[in-house]
Amino acid sequence: MTAAAMVAEFDDVAGWTADAVRQLGDRYAIPAACRGSASPTALAWLAEACELSAGMRLLDVGAGVGGPAAWAAERFGVSPILLEPMPAACRAAARLFGLPVVLADGRRIPLRTASIDVAWCLGVLCTVEDKAGLLSEIHRVLVPGGSLGLLVVVAQGKQLLRPPDGNHFPGQDELDALLGNVGFDVVEQIDRPAEVPRSWSRRAEEVAAMVEARHRAHRAYALAARQGRRLAGLFDGGHLSMQLIHATRQGRRG
Ligand SMILES: C[S@@+](CC[C@H](N)C(=O)[O-])C[C@H]1O[C@@H](n2cnc3c(N)ncnc32)[C@H](O)[C@@H]1O
Repeated sequence: MTAAAMVAEFDDVAGWTADAVRQLGDRYAIPAACRGSASPTALAWLAEACELSAGMRLLDVGAGVGGPAAWAAERFGVSPILLEPMPAACRAAARLFGLPVVLADGRRIPLRTASIDVAWCLGVLCTVEDKAGLLSEIHRVLVPGGSLGLLVVVAQGKQLLRPPDGNHFPGQDELDALLGNVGFDVVEQIDRPAEVPRSWSRRAEEVAAMVEARHRAHRAYALAARQGRRLAGLFDGGHLSMQLIHATRQGRRG
């Protein structure tokens, strides 16, 4: 994952987002730090599906700026660990939420085997070519029977015109086969609920507007914005859909 546009989107914009939140206030942190993928409705579905409860070790792989994990800690009292390969995103998550953040690639997770109760991986699979490698590592660190919550952008057809740089959207059959081959049982899958409370989207939009006002002249801003436009165009054309999946690691809980 080295495309300059992806570094712009996931690293530069992550740092700028944390700066804007610092200025606007803590209430803005979680909506702004759910980087376009999750909403409170989607997170609530994943949290209930995975039966989150206080004290559980939740690993968020590709955590970005940390909004989803911070939301889960605040609402359910879980103990999150964030894993993210982009340095500025790691710093932003640590600054905004003070949660433990590991700077690492999800294909090489520096954690012990079967040391995690629940894993989330939200909006990440489509940015990784080696999806089996990423899912195998998550499988390794999860306890047997442990839950995996996924948010996946799924391709509806074979050929996508002008996908955002560095993205490889799986088809539904490919995704099903991947999960099964790696050793996950899919429990349930739904379309991501579209509804987002206005209070949430308004805060996310205010942060995005401040980032734009401050950085629109920067090349990284233009690259990240182009990624966003391409993605939105594919959704609008019905070529992509966003899916929430609850799967479990095969095997019995010890
Ligand atoms: C669309 S963002 C989603 C961020 C976060 N999960 C959220 O929902 O707010 C995708 C994230 O996946 C991360 N990512 C990309 N390749 C990765 C890899 N090989 N291992 C772990 N994370 C990766 C990116 O750096 C980026 O932060």
